Amino acid sequence: MSLSIVILAAGKGTRMKSAITKVMHKLAAKPLVEHVIDTAKKLNPINLSLVTGNGAEQLQPLLATKQVVEVVQNEQLGTGHAVMQAIDQFSDADQVLVLYGDVPLTKVSTLQRLIDCGDANSLRILTTELADPTGYGRIVRNDADEVICITEQKDADTETLAIKEVNSGIMVLPAKWLALSVAKLTNNNVQGEYYLTDMVSLAVTDGISINTLCCADNTEVAGVNTRQQLAALERHYQLLQANDLMVNGVTLADPARIDIRGELITGTDITIDVNVIFEGKVTLANNVKIGANCIIKDATIGEGTIILANSMIDSSVIGANVNIGPFARLRPGTILADKAKIGNFVETKNANIGKGSKVNHLSYIGDTDMGADVNIGAGTITCNYDGANKHRTIIGDRVFVGSDTQLVAPVTIENGATIGAGSTIRKTAPADALTLTKSEQRTVKGWQRPVKKK
Ligand code: UD1
Ligand code: MG
Repeated sequence: MSLSIVILAAGKGTRMKSAITKVMHKLAAKPLVEHVIDTAKKLNPINLSLVTGNGAEQLQPLLATKQVVEVVQNEQLGTGHAVMQAIDQFSDADQVLVLYGDVPLTKVSTLQRLIDCGDANSLRILTTELADPTGYGRIVRNDADEVICITEQKDADTETLAIKEVNSGIMVLPAKWLALSVAKLTNNNVQGEYYLTDMVSLAVTDGISINTLCCADNTEVAGVNTRQQLAALERHYQLLQANDLMVNGVTLADPARIDIRGELITGTDITIDVNVIFEGKVTLANNVKIGANCIIKDATIGEGTIILANSMIDSSVIGANVNIGPFARLRPGTILADKAKIGNFVETKNANIGKGSKVNHLSYIGDTDMGADVNIGAGTITCNYDGANKHRTIIGDRVFVGSDTQLVAPVTIENGATIGAGSTIRKTAPADALTLTKSEQRTVKGWQRPVKKK
């Protein structure tokens, strides 16, 4: 049975107190509405449209990349009115699924169960039971337990207000019937809005059967109206992801103190200490250990590699059995071969560092190709920028660079070369030889320390 999906997202989101339209606020670094779009796509609808209104221009780039049809609702006259604007989208479909752009965590499996809980000619409503149902539309049933209508909070009497089963807003409707009947909605209610929920009483009149699926997990149907609710859903979502990691063989020092803002692919026997943030796409091989407070973005980390506390890794490829940190900063284009070592207060960028090579302390290695088994002394700087252009530093295998050295690019240090401490190297340092640029040590007789002027 062909399915058309419409996502409602024209509302203001007044309570967010934001220049950013509500559905573009982010959960796990992804706009709320993008979560809904990604979920909707997994149901393989024949078309997917989204009703915009407030802040439409903020949504348009996302809709373009996700290939979602935009339906503009110029005036926000209610959820029924919003669906009415999208009628042309349903003409080839058998059934229509209505989703909300501010309800990000509904599972695909739950939506599939909702679709399957009645035939294509029935009206299907995703409900949930809430201890405190304030604000929601109540599911009103007759003595035979059949749904007869949904009554909004503001239109409800005391008896109706006591009902704990509420409308999530998510519904599946027969497409042809919806297209014909939606025009019958009126706005004779306290809010003066065209309610989509009134389709339920129209269905009763038209003899359309009504089915409900009660979602046990409230967070799947929770909407975001305030920043507090956004923060609460963010924590919930992170805890779900942390749980998935543990199920898949990852040890977390504290599942409440990890943030995954993207996709994290993991092997087994990985250990992650507290306050680690993953962004973009990160892959961790088996036996990786990550210390506290690391931020790792768009990176691949090889087997057995250890990343010590307070390190940042961005757009880098790290081999196996590498040691990084503490306090290391690996910037985009860093490629570390197996068994390399990057120590504290070392910054790398666009750098290939060969197998077993070590940069242990206080260095900047940028725009560099470094061979295997190199030792870079503390405080070594590759001077890659001449004020206008960047240049590369080429370092061969088995090179030893003494501490506090500047390698002024473009420059080459050949295989097996040794550079004396404190050198400023501007020309090729030949293979297997000692090169140094500092003058010989001398002692000045009679020299006195300067004294403070009185
Ligand atoms: C709606 C339901 C209520 C349900 C609740 C669940 C109706 C009449 N009520 O109430 O039964 O319990 O959701 O959260 O449907 N929107 C538009 N255009 C409009 C109005 C709304 O696109 O003209 C969009 C909003 O952006 C939002 C969604 O529809 O994504 C729901 O609108 P909202 O105003 O929050 O409805 P509620 O009053 O919460
Ligand atoms: Mg709402």
